[in-house]
Amino acid sequence: MTNDIAISIRTDIDIVAARQRGRQLAAEIGFSSTEQVLIATAISEIARNLINYAIRGQVSFNKVQQPEKQGFRVIAEDQGPGIVDTNQALQDGYSTSNGLGLGLPGAKRLMDDFEIVSTTQGTTVTMTKWRQESKFGSRPN
Ligand SMILES: Nc1ncnc2c1ncn2[C@@H]1O[C@H](COP(=O)(O)OP(=O)(O)OP(=O)(O)O)[C@@H](O)[C@H]1O
Ligand SMILES: [Mg+2]
Repeated sequence: MTNDIAISIRTDIDIVAARQRGRQLAAEIGFSSTEQVLIATAISEIARNLINYAIRGQVSFNKVQQPEKQGFRVIAEDQGPGIVDTNQALQDGYSTSNGLGLGLPGAKRLMDDFEIVSTTQGTTVTMTKWRQESKFGSRPN
């Protein structure tokens, strides 16, 4: 696994940058334009949470190569206060800030693998989307 890109997240502009670089890397891995948008949306939600709940954090992107498939892995890390109950935070509509409470569950649905590790020292969200190798070549966009 190579750590391709790491972006510090502190402002809205950083979120836009993370979204764009994420989409670009997803395109390079061969995801369709629809999948690129889904991945970019998940990145936005997780990056927004870094600012809202931890003031700042970092998002990194990794290309994951396995024998039969390639993946795009996003890791979002912060040193904020942490999430007391991560299962509750993943419920639709759960929000401590009068938000819609759809950021985490939405990102989970958009990606294939999704994991939150959170302590009082901070939170790490790791999410991966897989792209199956097709013997017919890359899928049309
Ligand atoms: N990085 C984080 N650090 C601490 N708490 C977090 C973090 N990310 C999410 N949370 C907690 O999990 C809750 C749910 O997050 P989620 O993104 O699903 O909803 P939201 O941010 O409240 O609203 P929405 O994303 O729909 O605008 C948040 O309200 C917050 O309490
Ligand atoms: Mg959110």
